[in-house]
Amino acid sequence: MNIGIIGYGRMGKTIEGICKERGHNVEAIIDLDNHDKIYNLSPEEIDVAIEFTQPQSAFENITTILSRGIPVVSGTTGWIEQMDAVKLFVEQYDTGFFYAPNYSIGVNLFFAIAEYAGRLMNKFPEFDIHIEEIHHVHKLDSPSGTAIHLAQGLIDRIQRKKSWINEPGSHPEELEILSDRQPNVPGIHSAIFTGPHDIIELKHTASSRLGFATGAVLAAEFLHGKKGIYNMKNLLDAIYAT
Ligand SMILES: NC(=O)c1ccc[n+]([C@@H]2O[C@H](COP(=O)([O-])OP(=O)(O)OC[C@H]3O[C@@H](n4cnc5c(N)ncnc54)[C@H](O)[C@@H]3O)[C@@H](O)[C@H]2O)c1
Repeated sequence: MNIGIIGYGRMGKTIEGICKERGHNVEAIIDLDNHDKIYNLSPEEIDVAIEFTQPQSAFENITTILSRGIPVVSGTTGWIEQMDAVKLFVEQYDTGFFYAPNYSIGVNLFFAIAEYAGRLMNKFPEFDIHIEEIHHVHKLDSPSGTAIHLAQGLIDRIQRKKSWINEPGSHPEELEILSDRQPNVPGIHSAIFTGPHDIIELKHTASSRLGFATGAVLAAEFLHGKKGIYNMKNLLDAIYAT
C-alpha cells in the first residue's frame, strides 16, 4: 500500500517505521515546513493518508485530503466536535475516514472490559465511578480523547451518571475525569469503582507509542478500498470474525 503521513512528529515518525516493517511504501511525508504539498496529493499516488498533527490543524488537514478523494486515518485528538462536518466531506467526496482517539489494540480491549464493568455497576448504586488519566507534559488537550471515550462508554451504561466533568468535587450525576501531566508518560487510564467496603480499579498503561502506531497502520490496511466512516470497534469486529 502507498501511505501518506501527515504530521511528522513523535507519532508520524513511529508510524513511518511500522509502515516500513509491514511492507508499505511511505510515498509522502508532510509537516509544517512543506505543508503546501498537501494540495498536490492524489489518490493515484496515495492509497491512505495517516494524520497525526495538532488539535487546531486536524480538521483542515483531514478535509483537504478527503476532498482530494483520498481516505484518511486520523489519530489527532481535541477536534472531535467537528466530526459531523467531516462526515459531510466523506459523503460528498465518496471516500473513507477512520477515527480513533486511541489506536492501541490493548486500550480498545480495555474499553470493552470497562464497558462490561459499567453494565454490571449499573445495578450497584453504592459504587461511585471516576476516571484518572496521566500523560506526558507535551499533550495539548485535556482530558485526553481516550478518557472522554472511556467516560462516555460508562455513562451510556450506568444510568445514574449523566455527563462527565474534568474536575474533582462533582455532582453525583457527573462522572469525574481527573487529568494529570507528568514527564515521559505515554498514557495511563484508570476506571475506578469505589464502594463502601472496597475499590475496583481497571487500569491500562501504554508502555510506548508503538502500540498506537501499529493500530493506526492496521486501521489504514482495514480502510484501504472502503468508503464511509469507521472506528476501532469495526476493526476489532473484523479481527474477531477471522
Ligand atoms: N489516537 C491515538 O492513538 C493517539 C496516540 C498518540 C497521540 N495522539 C495524538 O496525535 C497528535 C500528534 O501527537 P504527537 O505526539 O505526534 O505530536 P507531535 O507534536 O510530536 O507531532 C505533531 C506534528 O504535527 C505537525 N503539524 C502541526 N500542524 C501541522 C499541519 N497543519 N500540517 C502538517 N503537520 C503539522 C507538527 O509540526 C509536528 O511535527 C496529538 O493530537 C496527540 O494527542 C493520538
